Amino acid sequence: MKTTLKTALQEQFLAEYESSYLYLAMAAYFDQSGFSGLANWMKQQAKEELAHAMKYYDYLISRKETVTFAAIAAPKANWKSVKAVFEDAYKHEQKITASIGKLADVALDQKDHATYAFLQWFVTEQTEEENQVEDILHKLQLAGDNTVGILMLDRELGSRA
Ligand SMILES: [Fe+2]
Ligand SMILES: [Fe+2]
Repeated sequence: MKTTLKTALQEQFLAEYESSYLYLAMAAYFDQSGFSGLANWMKQQAKEELAHAMKYYDYLISRKETVTFAAIAAPKANWKSVKAVFEDAYKHEQKITASIGKLADVALDQKDHATYAFLQWFVTEQTEEENQVEDILHKLQLAGDNTVGILMLDRELGSRA
């Protein structure tokens, strides 16, 4: 595997940990604000991101490449509203979608079809993740400043297993 592709995969491995850390910070913010359902959704999201990181780990190992470890940046810990949290989550997922797109470009550029195929799962997953957050944002827009609406969403997201 060429260095640029290997480095990009190693960086994405770290980016998934950073995503997990960010969602856990969002979970803590919700738990501390009394929204246990929203916190539950974020904890499930944090777990999914760890599973994504493991896919990069396993892939690098299967290609006989090195898994590298670097410091995980501290995430933001405070937001001004429930909506602000999901707006950040949406922006974050868009950023990840862009970086996976770039990774796929590098794989194509280097004619590494195995890596390109590996990345397709993430391409599909990102569409799903962006849609999920968009859907929540839409419900928050409908709820506006209505506490009952937000509590209904809290109950709904509390059922995510
Ligand atoms: Fe991810
Ligand atoms: Fe994600």
